[in-house]
Amino acid sequence: MITASAPGKVILFGEHAVVFGTKALGTAIDLRAWASIEEAPGRLEVETSNLMLADFSLDLITGNIKSKGALNFFRYVSAVLVEFKAKDLRVKLRSEIPQAAGLGSSAAIVVATLAALNKYMGLGLDRLEIASSAHWIEKTVQKGLGSPMDTALSTFGGYQLVSHEVLPIDLPEMELVVGHTEKQHDTRSEVQKVQNLRSIYPDIVDPIFQAIGAISARAIPLLKEKRLRELGQMMNFNHGLLEAAGVSTRELSELVYAARSPGGALGAKLTGAGGGGCMIALPPEGGSSAILTAIAQAKGRAFKVKTGCEGVRLES
Ligand code: MEV
Repeated sequence: MITASAPGKVILFGEHAVVFGTKALGTAIDLRAWASIEEAPGRLEVETSNLMLADFSLDLITGNIKSKGALNFFRYVSAVLVEFKAKDLRVKLRSEIPQAAGLGSSAAIVVATLAALNKYMGLGLDRLEIASSAHWIEKTVQKGLGSPMDTALSTFGGYQLVSHEVLPIDLPEMELVVGHTEKQHDTRSEVQKVQNLRSIYPDIVDPIFQAIGAISARAIPLLKEKRLRELGQMMNFNHGLLEAAGVSTRELSELVYAARSPGGALGAKLTGAGGGGCMIALPPEGGSSAILTAIAQAKGRAFKVKTGCEGVRLES
């Protein structure tokens, strides 16, 4: 059996604007997804089990579905299997990344599956090819919408600065607090929403994107020099602009404002596509307990994540 794992991500600055070529900064986090491939003569199966995925099994040859739990993942993983003409095997998936929450769960599943298949079938793909195949597959499933952000972070890990190209960037690790609204979102429809708004009001939406790009650029030296107060201010600016672009929800903004309560976060913003999913908060030097409590009191699920984590890897 061959197993590979890949991390989830948070977008620190620049989601949505990045789809239109503006700078965005993201980081891999310490939540991972695993894909294992084993021989199964005459079969082509995908199975998920435990953690954040519903139990699910599908035989691509017979079409036999044992549970309809995680169809979302099936679309991505079957696209990988079809693209590389896989046969006579079973893919087993497990993940600790919440699904459809803006934390890159589908990219991590695609990248881990590609890396395991690469080894199992001797495809000879390097990391760059894994990242670009994963992006292509995500784009196909999302019908043409999306930047290389999530798949690059899941493949290369660390921090990545994305605009028209993807650049690794050396920045210190941090701890962030994530607040999950427990409302799943659909990335494609949120991206489509922003695209529609832009086609009606380009004179308003383009300056919003430009301001978001300026925030991403300013954030890099602030993060490098650990100027956390100013970094928090950039997060607050970015959240306001994402609200203006229509992708926050009442629940998301309530968690953001709760996290910023006195003694709490230095800054907070939604992360990922919005429309549900998660927000992130930057704790002060003193720690994150006040933020965890404030988010929980505002009915969010709060947990800590580390940034700058390792990208895709084969597990022994
Ligand atoms: C999704 O994690 C981030 C978006 O910017 C879409 C994308 O970059 O593909 C909303």
